[in-house]
Amino acid sequence: MNVIVTESYEESCAAAAQMIADLVREKPACKLGLATGGTPVPIYRKLIEMNRAGTVDFARVRTVNLDEYCGIPADHPQSYRYFMDTNLFDHINIDKANTFVAAGMGDYQANAAQLERMVYEGGPADLQLLGIGNNGHIAFNEAGDTLHAKAHIEHLTDSTISANARFFEKKEDVPTMAITMGMGDILAARKVVLVATGPAKAEAIRGLVTGDTITPHNPSTLLKLHPDATVIIDRALAEAAGYGA
Ligand code: GLP
Repeated sequence: MNVIVTESYEESCAAAAQMIADLVREKPACKLGLATGGTPVPIYRKLIEMNRAGTVDFARVRTVNLDEYCGIPADHPQSYRYFMDTNLFDHINIDKANTFVAAGMGDYQANAAQLERMVYEGGPADLQLLGIGNNGHIAFNEAGDTLHAKAHIEHLTDSTISANARFFEKKEDVPTMAITMGMGDILAARKVVLVATGPAKAEAIRGLVTGDTITPHNPSTLLKLHPDATVIIDRALAEAAGYGA
């Protein structure tokens, strides 16, 4: 695993955006695995800037997102489809027909099966962007005794619901279930890039970047099995996580 320590979160986001832009330039019809949450927002902002400046072209890029809440429609302001449209897709020259976010309404099992197909359609992602939950969850693969390899329905933990409550009016409004890629789907990407910041992520990042233990109680540790995984953290988080100490 390659760990990059930057001087700031802003620098981390610039580095991740650069990796994505380099890939798109090298392979214009690449497939990107994308993530939601607060962390990637500045990464997407930088990609929008580059696209507007004419230095990166998304015309032939395809995307698949990690996950989606169950029970909220695509046009709901907290759906991950809405997040992707408003934070990235509406502002770049991507063909939205080439972007996939699992449907959160209807037959959840069928939606998970469709996500599983999309993960591999035309080959796995060239690059999968990731954030990390406070408990080490990746996409919505929750910490616990077991993990899933494939796309499935996940019951969210109280830690995750509390952390994501900031995006909703009240905690009770946060969906309790989600459709998510499984850990095998994420590990199938040719390259994975995880960005994290903030003291709430310190314990999860400690498990990921120090030692070689792999445990379902910190799902991010499975990334240690990936041959091309990069973790980008700022110095404050690296120190809090005991990296390089
Ligand atoms: C959600 C998403 C994850 C994301 C996590 C952390 O649970 N499903 O993909 O990594 O939140 O989000 P944030 O970046 O807001 O801390």
